[in-house]
Amino acid sequence: MIPQIKNICCIGAGYVGGPTMAVIASKCPHIQVNVIDINSERIREWNNSNLDKLPIYEPGLSQLIKRCRGINLHFSTEMKSNISKADMIFISVNTPTKTKGRGAGKAIDLKWIESSARTISLYAKGTTIVVEKSTLPVRTAETIKKILTTSSNDNNTKEEKTFFVLSNPEFLSEGKAINDLTNPDRVLIGGDNDLAIKSLIQIYSKWVDKGKILTTDLWSSELSKLTANAFLAQRISSINSISALCEETGADINDVACAVGSDKRLGKLFLDPGPGFGGSCFKKDILNLVYICNHYGLEKVANYWQTVININNWQQKRITDLVVQNLFGTVSEKRIAILGFSFKANTNDTRESPSINICKDLIEEGAILHIYDPKVEYEKIKKDLNSSDLISNNINHKEGGWIYSRNIIDAASGTDAIIILTEWDEFKEINWSKISNVMRTPSWLFDTRSICNIHKAKSFGLNVWSVGKGK
Ligand code: UDX
Ligand code: UDX
Repeated sequence: MIPQIKNICCIGAGYVGGPTMAVIASKCPHIQVNVIDINSERIREWNNSNLDKLPIYEPGLSQLIKRCRGINLHFSTEMKSNISKADMIFISVNTPTKTKGRGAGKAIDLKWIESSARTISLYAKGTTIVVEKSTLPVRTAETIKKILTTSSNDNNTKEEKTFFVLSNPEFLSEGKAINDLTNPDRVLIGGDNDLAIKSLIQIYSKWVDKGKILTTDLWSSELSKLTANAFLAQRISSINSISALCEETGADINDVACAVGSDKRLGKLFLDPGPGFGGSCFKKDILNLVYICNHYGLEKVANYWQTVININNWQQKRITDLVVQNLFGTVSEKRIAILGFSFKANTNDTRESPSINICKDLIEEGAILHIYDPKVEYEKIKKDLNSSDLISNNINHKEGGWIYSRNIIDAASGTDAIIILTEWDEFKEINWSKISNVMRTPSWLFDTRSICNIHKAKSFGLNVWSVGKGK
């Protein structure tokens, strides 16, 4: 008989766990969903009565939280009771790249996955379906299974515990997470136990067409997620590499992308040029793919995927170089407005944001940056740049640094250049007449996302560089 899921637990209340569980709770009112996290501050934020203060910003999320929280969606730090009463447990903890030891800088650090499996084996009761939600190296399910079975024996309880492990990777893209979860292109479930797979299908089929629910073995599911991210990132590196060629040859990257994407075999999405991909997944997943390929002796395959990362690093570096070069070879003591700090629009997430490296490079060159982002708060920028702002620090401006700005005009005032780094809607509609009046001349616009009305900006006297636009 297919196990009926009445109680779900999710370990990890992050960008993936939070929205995913909010959607499951809203679509399955008959299921109690408990999201647990070791970070008590994060849990406190999820429980904040002010829905503008949730720990993550995601369009549509606060409405779901309002509807379900306290009814069938609960956020807490309580591990034991929430795990023991769960029929199904999702693991959505972070899986960063290892920073030291074997595989440092490439392999995934599985310590959080391992500790989650140990905690589950300790507290789970009866039959529990454990679902890998985090993106993991292929064959991680094997490790999880071993930990679950061997440590539950070690725990020496008389009670019989049974575990089934499934892989159910997330494909949500931040800023569109709620839409991606409610209208997914596909749901992927990997596993080796039919009944466990069916019980997860039952949950998704409450709102997803059965034809969109794909089932595979565990290893294909794990590898599909890594491959999907690698292919997406590869498209961005491909278009960014061509953007540089457009700039040299006089072609226009947007026209090229449109012409290329009109071929049904290629498709229009994921062909926007930019300052390089950011986000918590692409870089770490490709590095991991490279690591795995090398592990299996597939050096040529590893080198192939490594170039996707290399082009991404190069694109970021090339933007800083261009800015310095166009501002007469030096940015020392020059003021530059940075518009956008998140890694993409509609999120407050800054993980691996190209803005971080570009800002650090410019500060290193002695620039004074005025940073404005509609959703990223001061404290986050301070942490990412590893430095306090100039005002609170009262540091000598000659050494370069940054200032937090509250709006576009504030950021642009007194600057020699504006760099657009995130494609927020409000940057698409900048009033260039107003902005050109508050900047120093000669003033520059560097549009790394190709979103501004450059003809308007030029008509008010700005010099313009836009990614992939020929000279
Ligand atoms: C995570 C993974 O990093 C990624 O590989 C995967 O594709 C999706 O899940 P994300 O949700 O964005 O991504 O991570 P993050 O926002 O950092 O949230 C993870 C949460 O897990 C954190 O709140 C952390 O405190 C929590 N955690 C971590 C636990 O509750 N227990 C642990 O043992 C470790
Ligand atoms: C990605 C995958 O899309 C998602 O399926 C997976 O589950 C997690 O990783 P995410 O990182 O949230 O999602 O955002 P995504 O929209 O993929 O953008 C990643 C980066 O690529 C951003 O920095 C974005 O600005 C950049 N990008 C995206 C481009 O530069 N050009 C594009 O055409 C698309």
